[in-house]
Amino acid sequence: TSNQMWGGRFADRPDAIMEAINASIGFDKRLAAQDIAGSRAHAAMLAATGIVEDNDVEAIRKGLLTVLSEIESGDFEFSTALEDIHMNVEARLKEVVGEAAGRLHTARSRNDQVATDFRLWVRDQLDAAESGLLALMRALVAQAEAGADWVMPGFTHLQTAQPVTWGHHMLAYVEMFSRDLGRVRDARARMNESPLGAAALAGTGFPIDREMTAKELGFDRPMANSLDAVSARDFALEFLSAASISAMHLSRMAEELVIWSSAQFRFVTLSDRFSTGSSIMPQKKNPDAAELIRAKIGRIFGANVALMMVMKGLPLAYSKDMQEDKEQVFDAADNWLLALAAMEGMVRDMQGNVPALEAAASHGFSTATDLADWLVRETGLPFREAHHVTGSLVAMAEKKGCDLPDLTLADMQSVHGSITEGVFEVLGVHNSVASRMSYGGTAPARVREQVARWQEILG
Ligand code: ARG
Repeated sequence: TSNQMWGGRFADRPDAIMEAINASIGFDKRLAAQDIAGSRAHAAMLAATGIVEDNDVEAIRKGLLTVLSEIESGDFEFSTALEDIHMNVEARLKEVVGEAAGRLHTARSRNDQVATDFRLWVRDQLDAAESGLLALMRALVAQAEAGADWVMPGFTHLQTAQPVTWGHHMLAYVEMFSRDLGRVRDARARMNESPLGAAALAGTGFPIDREMTAKELGFDRPMANSLDAVSARDFALEFLSAASISAMHLSRMAEELVIWSSAQFRFVTLSDRFSTGSSIMPQKKNPDAAELIRAKIGRIFGANVALMMVMKGLPLAYSKDMQEDKEQVFDAADNWLLALAAMEGMVRDMQGNVPALEAAASHGFSTATDLADWLVRETGLPFREAHHVTGSLVAMAEKKGCDLPDLTLADMQSVHGSITEGVFEVLGVHNSVASRMSYGGTAPARVREQVARWQEILG
Protein backbone atom coordinates (compact mmCIF):
# COMPACT_ATOMS: atom_id res chain seq x y z
CA THR A 1 0.00 0.00 0.00
CA SER A 2 1.35 3.40 -0.96
CA ASN A 3 1.38 6.66 1.01
CA GLN A 4 -2.14 7.86 1.76
CA MET A 5 -1.27 11.53 1.23
CA TRP A 6 0.60 11.46 -2.05
CA GLY A 7 0.75 7.81 -3.10
CA GLY A 8 -1.67 7.88 -6.03
CA ARG A 9 0.99 7.19 -8.58
CA PHE A 10 2.98 4.81 -6.39
CA ALA A 11 2.52 1.05 -6.28
CA ASP A 12 4.99 0.40 -3.50
CA ARG A 13 5.54 1.98 -0.10
CA PRO A 14 8.82 3.69 0.80
CA ASP A 15 11.70 1.64 2.11
CA ALA A 16 12.29 1.95 5.86
CA ILE A 17 15.56 3.75 5.13
CA MET A 18 13.74 6.15 2.81
CA GLU A 19 11.32 6.86 5.61
CA ALA A 20 14.15 7.44 8.04
CA ILE A 21 15.95 9.95 5.86
CA ASN A 22 12.75 11.63 4.73
CA ALA A 23 10.81 12.07 7.95
CA SER A 24 10.99 15.35 9.82
CA ILE A 25 8.25 14.69 12.36
CA GLY A 26 10.86 13.95 15.03
CA PHE A 27 11.68 17.65 15.13
CA ASP A 28 9.06 19.58 13.19
CA LYS A 29 6.37 18.59 15.68
CA ARG A 30 7.55 21.75 17.39
CA LEU A 31 5.65 23.60 14.64
CA ALA A 32 2.30 22.06 15.62
CA ALA A 33 0.71 25.21 17.02
CA GLN A 34 1.87 27.30 14.06
CA ASP A 35 0.75 24.65 11.60
CA ILE A 36 -2.71 24.55 13.07
CA ALA A 37 -2.98 28.34 13.23
CA GLY A 38 -1.97 28.50 9.56
CA SER A 39 -4.47 25.82 8.58
CA ARG A 40 -7.29 27.49 10.49
CA ALA A 41 -6.59 30.81 8.75
CA HIS A 42 -6.41 29.07 5.39
CA ALA A 43 -9.69 27.24 6.04
CA ALA A 44 -11.48 30.44 7.08
CA MET A 45 -10.32 32.05 3.85
CA LEU A 46 -11.55 29.07 1.79
CA ALA A 47 -15.01 29.64 3.27
CA ALA A 48 -14.96 33.42 2.88
CA THR A 49 -14.06 33.12 -0.79
CA GLY A 50 -16.65 30.39 -1.39
CA ILE A 51 -13.97 27.86 -2.42
CA VAL A 52 -15.10 25.40 0.26
CA GLU A 53 -18.54 25.25 1.84
CA ASP A 54 -19.06 26.84 5.22
CA ASN A 55 -20.11 23.69 7.04
CA ASP A 56 -17.02 21.77 5.90
CA VAL A 57 -14.80 24.66 6.97
CA GLU A 58 -16.52 24.85 10.32
CA ALA A 59 -15.86 21.16 10.88
CA ILE A 60 -12.25 21.58 9.79
CA ARG A 61 -11.61 24.59 12.04
CA LYS A 62 -13.17 22.90 15.06
CA GLY A 63 -11.41 19.62 14.33
CA LEU A 64 -8.07 21.39 14.13
CA LEU A 65 -8.58 22.70 17.66
CA THR A 66 -9.26 19.15 18.82
CA VAL A 67 -6.05 17.99 17.19
CA LEU A 68 -4.15 20.86 18.81
CA SER A 69 -5.40 19.99 22.27
CA GLU A 70 -4.48 16.34 21.69
CA ILE A 71 -0.95 17.40 20.76
CA GLU A 72 -0.65 19.81 23.66
CA SER A 73 -1.86 17.25 26.20
CA GLY A 74 0.63 14.73 24.89
CA ASP A 75 -1.78 12.05 23.71
CA PHE A 76 -1.16 12.46 20.03
CA GLU A 77 0.61 9.65 18.28
CA PHE A 78 3.07 10.99 15.75
CA SER A 79 3.75 8.75 12.80
CA THR A 80 7.00 8.61 10.86
CA ALA A 81 5.18 7.20 7.86
CA LEU A 82 3.29 10.50 7.73
CA GLU A 83 6.65 12.28 7.39
CA ASP A 84 6.04 15.65 8.94
CA ILE A 85 3.82 17.75 11.16
CA HIS A 86 1.67 18.88 8.22
CA MET A 87 0.58 15.39 7.21
CA ASN A 88 0.36 14.14 10.78
CA VAL A 89 -2.10 16.88 11.61
CA GLU A 90 -4.10 16.43 8.42
CA ALA A 91 -4.34 12.65 8.82
CA ARG A 92 -5.59 13.00 12.37
CA LEU A 93 -8.01 15.71 11.27
CA LYS A 94 -9.50 13.21 8.85
CA GLU A 95 -10.05 10.75 11.68
CA VAL A 96 -11.72 13.47 13.73
CA VAL A 97 -13.95 15.16 11.13
CA GLY A 98 -14.08 12.69 8.25
CA GLU A 99 -14.08 13.49 4.54
CA ALA A 100 -14.29 17.28 4.98
CA ALA A 101 -10.63 17.19 6.08
CA GLY A 102 -9.66 16.39 2.49
CA ARG A 103 -10.80 19.88 1.40
CA LEU A 104 -8.34 21.74 3.67
CA HIS A 105 -5.42 21.34 1.30
CA THR A 106 -7.25 23.07 -1.58
CA ALA A 107 -5.15 25.90 -3.06
CA ARG A 108 -2.26 25.10 -0.75
CA SER A 109 0.95 23.07 -0.78
CA ARG A 110 3.21 21.88 1.96
CA ASN A 111 5.72 24.29 0.46
CA ASP A 112 3.83 27.45 1.38
CA GLN A 113 2.52 25.69 4.49
CA VAL A 114 5.97 24.98 5.94
CA ALA A 115 7.28 28.40 4.97
CA THR A 116 4.33 29.95 6.83
CA ASP A 117 4.70 27.73 9.91
CA PHE A 118 8.39 28.38 10.17
CA ARG A 119 8.04 32.14 9.81
CA LEU A 120 5.48 32.15 12.59
CA TRP A 121 7.78 30.09 14.79
CA VAL A 122 10.84 32.25 14.14
CA ARG A 123 8.75 35.36 14.77
CA ASP A 124 7.85 34.03 18.24
CA GLN A 125 11.53 33.42 18.95
CA LEU A 126 12.41 36.96 17.90
CA ASP A 127 9.80 38.21 20.36
CA ALA A 128 11.22 35.98 23.09
CA ALA A 129 14.74 37.19 22.30
CA GLU A 130 13.53 40.77 22.55
CA SER A 131 12.20 40.10 26.06
CA GLY A 132 15.38 38.27 27.03
CA LEU A 133 17.59 41.09 25.80
CA LEU A 134 15.49 43.73 27.57
CA ALA A 135 15.63 41.80 30.85
CA LEU A 136 19.40 41.45 30.58
CA MET A 137 19.80 45.13 29.78
CA ARG A 138 17.73 46.06 32.83
CA ALA A 139 19.93 43.87 35.03
CA LEU A 140 23.05 45.55 33.64
CA VAL A 141 21.62 49.03 34.15
CA ALA A 142 20.84 48.14 37.79
CA GLN A 143 24.48 47.11 38.25
CA ALA A 144 25.63 50.31 36.57
CA GLU A 145 23.49 52.41 38.88
CA ALA A 146 24.83 50.64 41.98
CA GLY A 147 28.43 51.03 40.89
CA ALA A 148 28.44 54.26 38.92
CA ASP A 149 31.55 55.39 40.83
CA TRP A 150 33.27 52.13 41.69
CA VAL A 151 36.74 52.32 40.20
CA MET A 152 38.23 49.35 38.42
CA PRO A 153 41.00 48.85 35.90
CA GLY A 154 40.10 49.23 32.26
CA PHE A 155 42.10 46.93 30.04
CA THR A 156 43.54 46.78 26.58
CA HIS A 157 45.34 43.57 25.63
CA LEU A 158 44.12 42.43 29.08
CA GLN A 159 46.88 44.66 30.47
CA THR A 160 45.94 47.43 32.86
CA ALA A 161 45.26 50.50 30.75
CA GLN A 162 43.36 53.29 32.53
CA PRO A 163 40.93 53.34 35.45
CA VAL A 164 37.29 53.10 34.49
CA THR A 165 34.10 52.86 36.49
CA TRP A 166 32.14 49.67 37.04
CA GLY A 167 29.02 51.45 35.83
CA HIS A 168 30.76 52.40 32.60
CA HIS A 169 31.79 48.80 31.99
CA MET A 170 28.23 47.55 32.60
CA LEU A 171 26.81 50.17 30.25
CA ALA A 172 29.23 49.13 27.51
CA TYR A 173 27.36 45.82 27.44
CA VAL A 174 24.02 47.58 27.53
CA GLU A 175 25.01 49.39 24.34
CA MET A 176 26.03 46.12 22.68
CA PHE A 177 22.86 44.30 23.67
CA SER A 178 20.78 47.27 22.52
CA ARG A 179 22.24 46.89 19.05
CA ASP A 180 21.38 43.19 19.22
CA LEU A 181 17.88 44.26 20.05
CA GLY A 182 17.87 46.55 17.03
CA ARG A 183 18.88 43.63 14.81
CA VAL A 184 16.09 41.52 16.31
CA ARG A 185 13.54 44.22 15.59
CA ASP A 186 14.83 44.78 12.07
CA ALA A 187 14.71 41.08 11.33
CA ARG A 188 11.17 40.83 12.64
CA ALA A 189 9.95 43.74 10.55
CA ARG A 190 11.54 42.30 7.40
CA MET A 191 10.39 38.73 7.86
CA ASN A 192 6.79 39.51 8.75
CA GLU A 193 5.24 38.76 5.35
CA SER A 194 3.02 35.82 4.55
CA PRO A 195 4.04 33.05 2.13
CA LEU A 196 0.63 31.40 2.49
CA GLY A 197 -1.16 31.14 -0.85
CA ALA A 198 2.03 30.80 -2.89
CA ALA A 199 0.95 27.15 -3.09
CA ALA A 200 3.60 24.83 -4.52
CA LEU A 201 5.53 27.59 -6.29
CA ALA A 202 3.37 29.26 -8.94
CA GLY A 203 0.33 30.50 -7.04
CA THR A 204 -3.09 28.99 -7.65
CA GLY A 205 -6.07 29.29 -9.97
CA PHE A 206 -8.50 29.32 -7.06
CA PRO A 207 -9.77 32.79 -6.12
CA ILE A 208 -7.94 32.90 -2.79
CA ASP A 209 -7.58 35.95 -0.57
CA ARG A 210 -4.00 36.20 0.58
CA GLU A 211 -4.56 39.52 2.33
CA MET A 212 -7.06 37.82 4.55
CA THR A 213 -4.79 34.97 5.67
CA ALA A 214 -1.85 37.34 6.07
CA LYS A 215 -3.88 39.56 8.36
CA GLU A 216 -5.31 36.64 10.31
CA LEU A 217 -1.80 35.38 11.07
CA GLY A 218 -0.46 38.79 12.08
CA PHE A 219 1.67 39.27 8.95
CA ASP A 220 1.95 42.78 7.53
CA ARG A 221 1.20 41.67 3.97
CA PRO A 222 1.40 38.68 1.64
CA MET A 223 4.75 38.06 -0.06
CA ALA A 224 4.66 39.45 -3.56
CA ASN A 225 6.28 36.59 -5.46
CA SER A 226 5.17 32.98 -5.09
CA LEU A 227 8.54 31.54 -6.13
CA ASP A 228 10.31 33.68 -3.55
CA ALA A 229 7.71 32.84 -0.93
CA VAL A 230 8.45 29.11 -0.97
CA SER A 231 12.19 29.45 -1.63
CA ALA A 232 13.24 32.09 0.84
CA ARG A 233 14.98 31.13 4.05
CA ASP A 234 16.88 34.37 4.54
CA PHE A 235 14.47 35.14 7.38
CA ALA A 236 15.85 32.11 9.22
CA LEU A 237 19.39 33.11 8.33
CA GLU A 238 18.78 36.63 9.55
CA PHE A 239 17.52 35.16 12.80
CA LEU A 240 20.69 33.06 13.06
CA SER A 241 22.91 36.01 12.17
CA ALA A 242 21.30 38.25 14.76
CA ALA A 243 21.52 35.39 17.25
CA SER A 244 25.18 34.83 16.40
CA ILE A 245 26.19 38.44 16.93
CA SER A 246 24.27 38.61 20.18
CA ALA A 247 25.75 35.28 21.24
CA MET A 248 29.21 36.66 20.54
CA HIS A 249 28.46 39.50 22.98
CA LEU A 250 27.18 37.01 25.55
CA SER A 251 30.31 34.94 25.12
CA ARG A 252 32.65 37.89 25.65
CA MET A 253 30.78 38.82 28.77
CA ALA A 254 30.85 35.22 29.98
CA GLU A 255 34.61 35.17 29.42
CA GLU A 256 34.98 38.29 31.55
CA LEU A 257 32.93 36.78 34.34
CA VAL A 258 35.09 33.66 34.31
CA ILE A 259 38.20 35.83 34.63
CA TRP A 260 36.69 38.26 37.12
CA SER A 261 35.46 35.54 39.47
CA SER A 262 38.88 33.85 39.69
CA ALA A 263 40.89 34.02 42.92
CA GLN A 264 43.54 35.97 41.00
CA PHE A 265 41.12 38.77 40.08
CA ARG A 266 38.36 38.59 42.72
CA PHE A 267 36.48 41.40 40.92
CA VAL A 268 33.12 39.72 41.40
CA THR A 269 31.44 37.16 43.54
CA LEU A 270 28.93 35.10 41.60
CA SER A 271 25.92 33.86 43.52
CA ASP A 272 25.60 30.28 44.69
CA ARG A 273 22.50 30.10 42.52
CA PHE A 274 24.60 30.45 39.40
CA SER A 275 27.69 28.49 40.45
CA THR A 276 28.58 24.86 41.03
CA GLY A 277 31.01 22.95 43.23
CA SER A 278 33.64 20.33 42.65
CA SER A 279 33.21 16.68 43.62
CA ILE A 280 36.80 16.48 44.87
CA MET A 281 37.97 19.99 45.77
CA PRO A 282 35.79 21.21 48.63
CA GLN A 283 36.83 24.86 48.24
CA LYS A 284 35.70 25.18 44.63
CA LYS A 285 32.96 27.46 43.41
CA ASN A 286 32.96 27.34 39.66
CA PRO A 287 31.41 29.80 37.18
CA ASP A 288 29.81 27.00 35.13
CA ALA A 289 26.93 29.08 33.84
CA ALA A 290 29.37 31.55 32.30
CA GLU A 291 31.47 28.75 30.85
CA LEU A 292 28.43 27.04 29.35
CA ILE A 293 27.22 30.29 27.83
CA ARG A 294 30.68 30.71 26.28
CA ALA A 295 30.53 27.16 24.94
CA LYS A 296 26.93 27.03 23.71
CA ILE A 297 27.56 30.08 21.58
CA GLY A 298 29.59 27.84 19.28
CA ARG A 299 26.45 25.87 18.42
CA ILE A 300 24.70 29.07 17.37
CA PHE A 301 27.56 30.07 15.07
CA GLY A 302 27.53 26.50 13.75
CA ALA A 303 23.83 26.65 12.97
CA ASN A 304 24.31 29.89 11.06
CA VAL A 305 27.07 28.40 8.91
CA ALA A 306 25.22 25.09 8.47
CA LEU A 307 22.07 26.72 7.10
CA MET A 308 24.10 28.98 4.82
CA MET A 309 25.68 25.82 3.43
CA VAL A 310 22.32 24.11 3.01
CA MET A 311 20.90 27.03 1.08
CA LYS A 312 23.76 28.22 -1.05
CA GLY A 313 23.40 25.73 -3.88
CA LEU A 314 19.64 25.48 -4.19
CA PRO A 315 17.92 26.48 -7.41
CA LEU A 316 14.43 27.94 -7.09
CA ALA A 317 11.99 26.98 -5.83
CA TYR A 318 11.55 24.43 -3.01
CA SER A 319 14.05 21.60 -2.54
CA LYS A 320 13.86 19.02 0.21
CA ASP A 321 17.25 20.22 1.44
CA MET A 322 15.29 23.03 3.03
CA GLN A 323 13.81 20.63 5.56
CA GLU A 324 17.25 20.81 7.19
CA ASP A 325 16.59 24.42 8.21
CA LYS A 326 14.61 23.55 11.29
CA GLU A 327 16.87 21.64 13.63
CA GLN A 328 19.58 24.27 13.27
CA VAL A 329 17.22 27.11 14.05
CA PHE A 330 15.50 25.23 16.89
CA ASP A 331 18.81 24.45 18.56
CA ALA A 332 20.18 27.95 18.10
CA ALA A 333 16.99 29.54 19.44
CA ASP A 334 16.89 27.29 22.49
CA ASN A 335 20.49 27.99 23.35
CA TRP A 336 20.36 31.72 22.68
CA LEU A 337 17.31 32.19 24.89
CA LEU A 338 18.81 30.02 27.60
CA ALA A 339 22.10 31.91 27.46
CA LEU A 340 20.27 35.25 27.71
CA ALA A 341 18.32 34.07 30.73
CA ALA A 342 21.39 32.60 32.44
CA MET A 343 23.36 35.78 31.86
CA GLU A 344 20.55 37.89 33.22
CA GLY A 345 20.45 35.74 36.36
CA MET A 346 24.19 35.94 36.86
CA VAL A 347 24.26 39.69 36.34
CA ARG A 348 21.36 40.27 38.73
CA ASP A 349 23.00 38.24 41.48
CA MET A 350 26.66 39.15 41.09
CA GLN A 351 28.42 41.31 43.65
CA GLY A 352 31.19 43.63 42.59
CA ASN A 353 34.08 43.46 45.04
CA VAL A 354 34.68 47.19 45.45
CA PRO A 355 37.99 47.10 47.41
CA ALA A 356 39.52 44.53 45.06
CA LEU A 357 38.39 46.50 42.01
CA GLU A 358 39.89 49.69 43.37
CA ALA A 359 43.12 48.01 44.47
CA ALA A 360 43.54 46.49 41.01
CA ALA A 361 42.86 49.88 39.42
CA SER A 362 45.54 51.46 41.57
CA HIS A 363 48.26 49.07 40.47
CA GLY A 364 49.94 48.75 37.12
CA PHE A 365 50.53 52.48 36.57
CA SER A 366 46.95 52.95 35.43
CA THR A 367 47.17 56.74 35.82
CA ALA A 368 50.27 57.17 33.66
CA THR A 369 48.14 58.79 30.95
CA ASP A 370 46.82 61.26 33.53
CA LEU A 371 50.40 62.15 34.41
CA ALA A 372 51.31 62.72 30.77
CA ASP A 373 48.15 64.81 30.26
CA TRP A 374 49.11 66.87 33.36
CA LEU A 375 52.54 67.58 31.87
CA VAL A 376 50.89 68.78 28.67
CA ARG A 377 48.46 71.01 30.54
CA GLU A 378 50.77 72.39 33.23
CA THR A 379 54.17 72.56 31.55
CA GLY A 380 53.21 72.98 27.91
CA LEU A 381 55.17 69.89 26.79
CA PRO A 382 54.03 68.37 23.51
CA PHE A 383 52.14 65.12 24.23
CA ARG A 384 54.75 62.92 22.60
CA GLU A 385 57.44 64.33 24.89
CA ALA A 386 55.19 64.11 27.92
CA HIS A 387 54.58 60.46 27.01
CA HIS A 388 58.34 59.87 27.00
CA VAL A 389 58.92 61.61 30.34
CA THR A 390 56.09 59.61 31.92
CA GLY A 391 57.54 56.43 30.49
CA SER A 392 60.80 57.17 32.31
CA LEU A 393 58.89 57.73 35.55
CA VAL A 394 57.09 54.41 35.08
CA ALA A 395 60.44 52.70 34.58
CA MET A 396 61.74 54.35 37.74
CA ALA A 397 58.71 53.23 39.76
CA GLU A 398 58.97 49.75 38.37
CA LYS A 399 62.63 49.61 39.42
CA LYS A 400 61.74 50.80 42.92
CA GLY A 401 58.87 48.35 43.11
CA CYS A 402 56.28 51.05 43.79
CA ASP A 403 53.40 52.76 42.01
CA LEU A 404 53.48 56.24 40.47
CA PRO A 405 51.93 58.08 43.46
CA ASP A 406 54.63 56.55 45.70
CA LEU A 407 57.45 58.39 43.90
CA THR A 408 58.70 61.51 45.69
CA LEU A 409 58.64 64.96 44.14
CA ALA A 410 62.44 64.81 44.00
CA ASP A 411 62.22 61.52 42.05
CA MET A 412 59.86 63.19 39.62
CA GLN A 413 61.96 66.32 39.24
CA SER A 414 65.06 64.25 38.55
CA VAL A 415 63.32 63.18 35.33
CA HIS A 416 61.72 66.52 34.48
CA GLY A 417 62.54 69.74 36.30
CA SER A 418 59.22 71.53 35.93
CA ILE A 419 57.08 68.91 37.68
CA THR A 420 55.45 70.35 40.82
CA GLU A 421 53.55 69.03 43.85
CA GLY A 422 50.30 69.51 41.92
CA VAL A 423 51.02 66.36 39.89
CA PHE A 424 50.04 64.15 42.82
CA GLU A 425 46.46 65.30 42.51
CA VAL A 426 46.01 63.57 39.18
CA LEU A 427 47.65 60.29 40.14
CA GLY A 428 44.73 58.96 42.19
CA VAL A 429 42.28 56.67 40.42
CA HIS A 430 39.20 58.58 41.58
CA ASN A 431 40.58 61.82 40.16
CA SER A 432 41.40 59.99 37.00
CA VAL A 433 37.90 58.69 36.32
CA ALA A 434 36.24 61.91 37.49
CA SER A 435 38.28 63.82 34.91
CA ARG A 436 37.05 61.70 31.99
CA MET A 437 34.05 63.93 31.37
CA SER A 438 34.14 63.84 27.57
CA TYR A 439 30.84 62.65 26.07
CA GLY A 440 30.81 58.85 26.34
CA GLY A 441 33.60 58.93 28.92
CA THR A 442 33.89 56.97 32.14
CA ALA A 443 33.35 59.80 34.70
CA PRO A 444 30.72 58.84 37.30
CA ALA A 445 28.70 61.92 36.35
CA ARG A 446 28.60 60.73 32.73
CA VAL A 447 27.71 57.22 33.82
CA ARG A 448 24.80 58.54 35.88
CA GLU A 449 23.52 60.47 32.87
CA GLN A 450 23.62 57.31 30.79
CA VAL A 451 21.98 55.25 33.54
CA ALA A 452 19.14 57.78 33.59
CA ARG A 453 18.85 57.65 29.82
CA TRP A 454 18.65 53.86 29.81
CA GLN A 455 16.20 53.76 32.69
CA GLU A 456 13.94 56.02 30.69
CA ILE A 457 14.25 53.87 27.56
CA LEU A 458 13.79 50.59 29.41
CA GLY A 459 10.98 51.82 31.65
N1 ARG B 1 8.69 18.60 5.84
C1 ARG B 1 8.90 19.48 4.74
C2 ARG B 1 9.90 20.57 5.14
O1 ARG B 1 10.12 20.72 6.26
C3 ARG B 1 7.62 20.12 4.32
C4 ARG B 1 7.59 20.54 2.90
C5 ARG B 1 7.60 19.36 2.04
N2 ARG B 1 7.30 19.68 0.70
C6 ARG B 1 7.49 18.82 -0.29
N3 ARG B 1 7.22 19.20 -1.46
N4 ARG B 1 7.98 17.62 -0.08
O2 ARG B 1 10.47 21.23 4.30
